Amino acid sequence: MPKDTHHGYDQLAGRYQLFEKLMFGSSLAKARTALLSSIPACRSALVLGDGDGRLLEQLLTTQPNCQITSVDQSRRMLEIQQKCLSHHPRRDDVTWRQQDARELEGFDRQFDLLVSAFFLDCFTFQELETHVPLWLNTLRPGGHFYLVDFQEPDSGWRRLRGKMYLSTMHHFFRWYTNLPNRVLVDWKQVLNQCPLELVALQNMNRDLISVQLYRKAPG
Ligand SMILES: C[S@@+](CC[C@H](N)C(=O)[O-])C[C@H]1O[C@@H](n2cnc3c(N)ncnc32)[C@H](O)[C@@H]1O
Repeated sequence: MPKDTHHGYDQLAGRYQLFEKLMFGSSLAKARTALLSSIPACRSALVLGDGDGRLLEQLLTTQPNCQITSVDQSRRMLEIQQKCLSHHPRRDDVTWRQQDARELEGFDRQFDLLVSAFFLDCFTFQELETHVPLWLNTLRPGGHFYLVDFQEPDSGWRRLRGKMYLSTMHHFFRWYTNLPNRVLVDWKQVLNQCPLELVALQNMNRDLISVQLYRKAPG
């Protein structure tokens, strides 16, 4: 397998949905959209690492007046996103950017909404400490951050089960995309240091997945 993540995701792109279903059934699909209806109406959104475009498609439905910028480093993932939306009546409301999110710059405005699903675990803790505040800078004060990601269940059999799933997943992504993480990165610790207020929370798949909606502190 290639040693940079970018080409790894290019290779994974066409099989991403299949692998997801084999490992998690419909859980990730349900989690991605779980709190979409709690997001207030937005006029602009930045979506980081959307992969094959399924969440993007749902966002176009739940946010009928929203212009969306989708950033992904994988050319192949972006092609699949574009194909997924090729017949969508609001396809022109999406702008695609092939870019490493760690090098994001050059937006001429701040967004109403920032979205990341199963994306934060692509980075090390140190990278998140550096880049999460920068990603949040793209959000206007009072704007919302919609986050879907894995978490380690707190205790008991759920924790054991969760660790087993996470370990299998990390091995898979290390092999395929050269993911540096061996365990789940503590993204909650990073978010706790940011000026965010939790608006809604839903734990899913026996607490293995957390869906969170935050509001950025105004001013
Ligand atoms: C684990 S997949 C998640 C895809 C999708 N959001 C989902 O819900 O399944 C991670 C996505 O983030 C993208 N990605 C990973 N590292 C990135 C980076 N540094 N900059 C931009 N995109 C990145 C990958 O190409 C891939 O599309």
